[in-house]
Amino acid sequence: MVTTEVTVSPEVLQASRVPERVPEPCAVVIFGASGDLTKRKLLPALYHLEQAGLLPAEFAVVGVARRPLQGEFVNDMRDGIIKGGGVEADDPNLRDFLQRVNYHAMNFDDPEGYVRLKALLETLDKNYGTNGNRLFYLATSPEYFSEIVHQLGAHRMAKPEKGAVRCIIEKPFGHDLSSARKLNDDINEVLSEDQIFRIDHYLGKETVQNILVFRFANGIFEPIWNRNYIDHVRITAAENIGIEGRGPFYEKAGALRDVIQNHVMQLLTFVAMEPPVSFFSGPIHVEKMKVWKAIQPIRMEDIVRGQYGPGTVDGKPAIGYRQEDRVDPVSNTETFAAMRFKIENWRWAGVPFYVRAGKRLAQRFTDITIQFKQPPTMLFKDNVGSSECGEIQPNIISMRIQPNEGISLRFAAKAPGPNMQSCPVMMDFDYAAAFGVSSANGYERLLLDAMLGDATLFAHRDGVETTWALMAPILEEWAAHPPKDFPNYAAGSWGPEAAIELLARDGRKWRHQ
Ligand code: BG6
Repeated sequence: MVTTEVTVSPEVLQASRVPERVPEPCAVVIFGASGDLTKRKLLPALYHLEQAGLLPAEFAVVGVARRPLQGEFVNDMRDGIIKGGGVEADDPNLRDFLQRVNYHAMNFDDPEGYVRLKALLETLDKNYGTNGNRLFYLATSPEYFSEIVHQLGAHRMAKPEKGAVRCIIEKPFGHDLSSARKLNDDINEVLSEDQIFRIDHYLGKETVQNILVFRFANGIFEPIWNRNYIDHVRITAAENIGIEGRGPFYEKAGALRDVIQNHVMQLLTFVAMEPPVSFFSGPIHVEKMKVWKAIQPIRMEDIVRGQYGPGTVDGKPAIGYRQEDRVDPVSNTETFAAMRFKIENWRWAGVPFYVRAGKRLAQRFTDITIQFKQPPTMLFKDNVGSSECGEIQPNIISMRIQPNEGISLRFAAKAPGPNMQSCPVMMDFDYAAAFGVSSANGYERLLLDAMLGDATLFAHRDGVETTWALMAPILEEWAAHPPKDFPNYAAGSWGPEAAIELLARDGRKWRHQ
């Protein structure tokens, strides 16, 4: 297949890196800081932001966790930044940055720990000029979310005395509709909605935000972005990794709760929503809600669940899910889910949206493919039979969220020679090639936005509850009828046969299967 590339001039690139706004002075307090997320994602993200001049000079970090770590914590963060951030070990900037990193050991339900935390933050206000502004980041296990927020409230840390107090809450946000509602109610007793930032790191990915730029900053795509031209949409969030030692968490989650209810549902709204009146949190949220509200109840025959058994991934043997550490040997947790959504509105009536997500699939591949309808009649018959180019293929726009981030357009071109034979060719935009940088870890953008008080790229209360409500009947049905065929796909494959069948019965195919 022929590929044409798109590049961007250095001037444009430079302009895109100039910060628009720098947040007010701020102390970032990470609860659950001894977990992997802080080391692998959050601290490298904060360091990159600081290096890019996007953080205020008056800035400090406090890691909070139960174990007495102190110096060990800072060393650990240093390793995380070096590994995750591509930073040299002796970089003097890193040394300066780490001087602002503190550790505070406490139990999350111990009032005395909050008294000490408050005193520490007041000291940091004096030493670093953080001025009473706080960004709390709840990265603990979810059962502590309410407790921490209530303790912050009880110790007068949840409402600003002078600066702004904001709180990022990690996923999972609830386990089902009723627990999500309860969590929202609990947190809203202490914090107002404009203080709460429910994170979905997919919204921080450049390629996800680019869906909106692609659709709404170009004049040529939006007129055909509807049921008159689009045949169907496919969304794949495939991972080749397994559960990475997170057995106890994953046993209670599964693919539907872990990835579909949040990340995939966010991707779906970006593809399907109407143009918002402006690029601000409120208008965007309104349009996202309209999409979720227009999704029809999902029929059970349009849903597939799967669990991986032993297989081969990247040429290496891989154990099955039931053999993973701290997983029930007869577990019924799904590691794969696929389904067909119908969005019954003016734009999308009759256009199926097929989505799938799973672990231990053949490769890491997150992609949104828009497949267009074929021309009404086919003028060029030379493709039939033994033609090298095969059957004429429909146009597709493929948005590669990760890896190899970019966008491709497939169209037909005349193959050289005496026949009117058409061949599919790809016009390709590759993020790394065009901009010369790999796209940032989503946490950078989201941490910065939360410090700026901008909730555009965060999940809102009613959005979280609506997506849980969509999943509720499936979760209930699955709980009532345990699967009989688990494990039903081999590690390293593209998932269960039934997921391929889900599209095949509509005469369609996944890109990889
Ligand atoms: C997380 C899930 O939210 O997203 C993980 O809990 C999953 O199970 C991860 O692996 C995928 O994120 P990414 O950015 O690697 O696609």
